[in-house]
Amino acid sequence: MSWWRGVSRHYVGVTNIVIALIFMLLINWKLGLIAAVMIPLLVFVAHKFEVRILSEYRKVRKLNSKITGSYSENITGVRVVKALRREEENLREFEGLTGDMYKASFRAAWLSALFLPAVQLIMAFAIGGVVWLGGYEFQAGALSIGTIQAFISYITFMLWPVQEMARVFASMQQSIASAERIFSLLDMEPEIANKADATEVPHIQGDIVFDNVTFYYEENKPVLKDFNLTVKQGETIALVGPTGAGKSTIVNLMCRFYEPRKGQILIGGRDYTDLTLHSIQSRIGMVLQTPHLFSGTVRENLRYGRLEASDEEIVAAAHMVGAHEFITALEKGYDTEVGEGGVLLSVGQKQLLSLARAVLAQPDLFIMDEATSSVDTLTEALIQQAMDKVMRGRTSFIIAHRLSTIKRADRILVLKDGQIDEIGTHAELIRKRGHYYNLYTKQFKEEREKALEKDVFGHNGVALAV
Ligand SMILES: Nc1ncnc2c1ncn2[C@@H]1O[C@H](COP(=O)(O)OP(=O)(O)O)[C@@H](O)[C@H]1O
Ligand SMILES: [Mg+2]
Repeated sequence: MSWWRGVSRHYVGVTNIVIALIFMLLINWKLGLIAAVMIPLLVFVAHKFEVRILSEYRKVRKLNSKITGSYSENITGVRVVKALRREEENLREFEGLTGDMYKASFRAAWLSALFLPAVQLIMAFAIGGVVWLGGYEFQAGALSIGTIQAFISYITFMLWPVQEMARVFASMQQSIASAERIFSLLDMEPEIANKADATEVPHIQGDIVFDNVTFYYEENKPVLKDFNLTVKQGETIALVGPTGAGKSTIVNLMCRFYEPRKGQILIGGRDYTDLTLHSIQSRIGMVLQTPHLFSGTVRENLRYGRLEASDEEIVAAAHMVGAHEFITALEKGYDTEVGEGGVLLSVGQKQLLSLARAVLAQPDLFIMDEATSSVDTLTEALIQQAMDKVMRGRTSFIIAHRLSTIKRADRILVLKDGQIDEIGTHAELIRKRGHYYNLYTKQFKEEREKALEKDVFGHNGVALAV
């Protein structure tokens, strides 16, 4: 009985319709029949319009999100767009999107505008039918002019709520389409959530154990396979391996951005899913390859690490990572605005600030994922010095492309295809003459060659003395 569901769902005036119909059928069944036929027709038309208008508005909402996304992407990535001369291509893509949105909006507006006249047309036919049939009946003396008049009033009375509905119908469909998107976001369940009986602990304490951890982002594409690792409290572990080996995945699991699909991660002997997300994540300091700053001053950005930190503590943290010098050299020192996303600072400067921010938080666990990959050698040296201080006595995970950065780690873990290929100290692995030895000697050779080139050719590659 979908038509009936349609009636009850959409038309507040169902009672109007039923009462009017009963009266009409009682007074004159032939004329009443005209009205009765009209109702399913109306429901059918309204339903068709609803489906079409809603689907067009859904398209409009989706395209609108795409347009906003593309717009923001093109503004934040404007340098890459310019460097790769993608302006025209991107403009064409954008025009395509806005063109599609225009078409969908136009169709939605056109259908919305058509709905009321369509209802009125059906109504006009019904009234016409009543007058026509009523005319014959009158001639035959079967009914009076007054009855015909009453019928016209009944039909108008009956259709009044439908007409009113048609007036707000279009904007209603538009709101439904928007609400659907909002609710689909609100209703989304986070994949990683606290267990009902999760406990809050103030610190990450004890050893960290990866116990037979298997993990994949997409099924059938395992990234880690039966991965086992015990990290003693205070130990520094370095992760080495080719791109895509799963290094970042290990730290993502450690931070519980994802959870193991099989096996478990234990912190101080407890499965970490028994702890609250807050107790884990608030105790981890993380420095990533692309540092992210928020618009605001240098001081505000540092304070993100720990909101209640005093100004002295902020300066001390900056000192510790070697950022104090460059900060005080800025025009307004700690009160300098860094711009949206920190655009007014160099990558090295941003990296030093994010390191100071992590230090300020006094985390129990420290993680650096390729933090020195995109900075100059001077900043790298600064970061390395700071790292040594930060990691002292703290459990740490370090991922670095340049192996010189990780030489001093307590243990170096060479990953291959989601499993541990080699593990040991720098000296042990060098002695072993395996994978790590090859990587290290290759990098060492390359760096020496680069240094030599610089000595011979100078910084610009112009021959000075050959
Ligand atoms: N969010 C993700 N969704 C799907 N696959 C991913 C995601 N992140 C990483 N991967 C895949 O997992 C593998 C390991 O990635 P990652 O841990 O980032 O490697 P690494 O840091 O060692 O370069 C890669 O094959 C990568 O394509
Ligand atoms: Mg990575």
